[in-house]
Amino acid sequence: MNHIKETLQKEIKAKQPNLVEKVATDPWRLHFHQQPPTGWLNDPNGVYQKDGLYHLYYQYSPLDPTGGVKYWGHKTSTDLVHFKEEEIFLYPDQTFDKDGVYSGSAFEKDGVTHFFYTGNVKHPGTHDYITSGREHNTVHMTSQDGFHIDSREVVIDSSEYPDGFTQHIRDPKILEKDGLFYMVLGGRTSEDKGAILLYVSKDLSTWEYKGNLLEERHDLGYMWECPDFFELNGQDILLMSPQGVEQSGHEFENVYQSGSIIGRTDWDTLKFEPTDGFVELDRGFDFYAPQTFLDEQGRRILWGWMGLPDIEPEYSNPTIERGWQHAMTLPRELAIEEGKLKQRPLPEYQLLRKEVQHKSMELTEAIEMIKETSDTYEMIVEVVQPTKSLKVKLSQDVILEFNGEVFTLKLGTSGFGRSKRTIELSELTSIHLFLDTSSLEIFLNDGEYVLTTRLYPTSQLNSIEFSGDTSVQISKWDLEKA
Ligand code: FRU
Repeated sequence: MNHIKETLQKEIKAKQPNLVEKVATDPWRLHFHQQPPTGWLNDPNGVYQKDGLYHLYYQYSPLDPTGGVKYWGHKTSTDLVHFKEEEIFLYPDQTFDKDGVYSGSAFEKDGVTHFFYTGNVKHPGTHDYITSGREHNTVHMTSQDGFHIDSREVVIDSSEYPDGFTQHIRDPKILEKDGLFYMVLGGRTSEDKGAILLYVSKDLSTWEYKGNLLEERHDLGYMWECPDFFELNGQDILLMSPQGVEQSGHEFENVYQSGSIIGRTDWDTLKFEPTDGFVELDRGFDFYAPQTFLDEQGRRILWGWMGLPDIEPEYSNPTIERGWQHAMTLPRELAIEEGKLKQRPLPEYQLLRKEVQHKSMELTEAIEMIKETSDTYEMIVEVVQPTKSLKVKLSQDVILEFNGEVFTLKLGTSGFGRSKRTIELSELTSIHLFLDTSSLEIFLNDGEYVLTTRLYPTSQLNSIEFSGDTSVQISKWDLEKA
């Protein structure tokens, strides 16, 4: 075994067991979301399914709940609901990735899984680590079983990137088309604009730069992280996580964004032509760096990091003191309908449903309630049309409100600084939500909008309160603590 890996493994083996005990007793731990056993998690990496088994790798810092040097953690599942924590898959143990095995992706080809990731290297000295002092090497790795690495080589050394860029070029994702492999990489130009670099290869080993996939955009910030590029229902979709986008009305309220652009690719000129604008994938407080994969049923499934970098001082996560931070969102199935990208929770999660309550309510002046007994539940509220207004109060101090013009999500002290997010909305037809102790995901209008947030309640209301001027049909299931 490589000497660096051995040292890192020894340190983790010595320090992690105490941390595991401390973390496991935290009542804010999630029950049906994927989270690290200890420490820090960020982006989903290399998600794929092979021979029925789903693999989820993720950016992981096992001993430091505030981040630090990144590893690839690994979880597996046969049903996408119950997961097993596996051994750490990838260590920063090579000269070309010694300061972190950064984000990447995976896909299967002829029984072999191919991984691509960014090897992060920081040189000592006085550097800004944007234009100097940093290497972001693109690495190709293969594995037969998803647990052991069979080969690993740098395919694009950081010195080989084209002119006109800073040293921030990372997060490879591959698309195979007509016998060729295309790689997108997120980048920051020397003029501080975001870019998607496009490379092509016949053999996954030799890569040729083919220019930037998308025209320069002055409205989309200085750096585009974690690009993803795929076909869905006959259209091409580009996902990315831009940094430096200005807030505009109720849009782009978070420190960094993640969104989609629908368009068409000219495969001769290798340019992506948007047919629509950049649309945020999630309008809540905690969502970033999503990645998609095609499962064996042919579904395009998206997973996001239920978190964001650099949220402080606006808001925070009090679990840091408890030895851990962050989780994945629920996986969501993507579809394009009427020109819009929809995201829906996977039907697999119905496995967790236990007792159900059904109720129809005519809402007028009075507050109506349904009894609350659990801190892990799913609720669907069908809103009968026409509707004027609806207010739902849940958990300790969370309010969802629709007034015919906007939908707002408000949190009180349980938000730890998260206060309000707003979506312009003229019609509300349904709310489908999942509460999992310290997380809440809200799907509006059958996946037209999603809002994801963390929340840290110290008490529950014992009821979910409804008020407004509308009629609603409610189904609520307590969920098994998977
Ligand atoms: C996005 C990101 C990626 C990078 C990784 C490092 O959250 O900054 O661009 O590869 O995290 O953990």
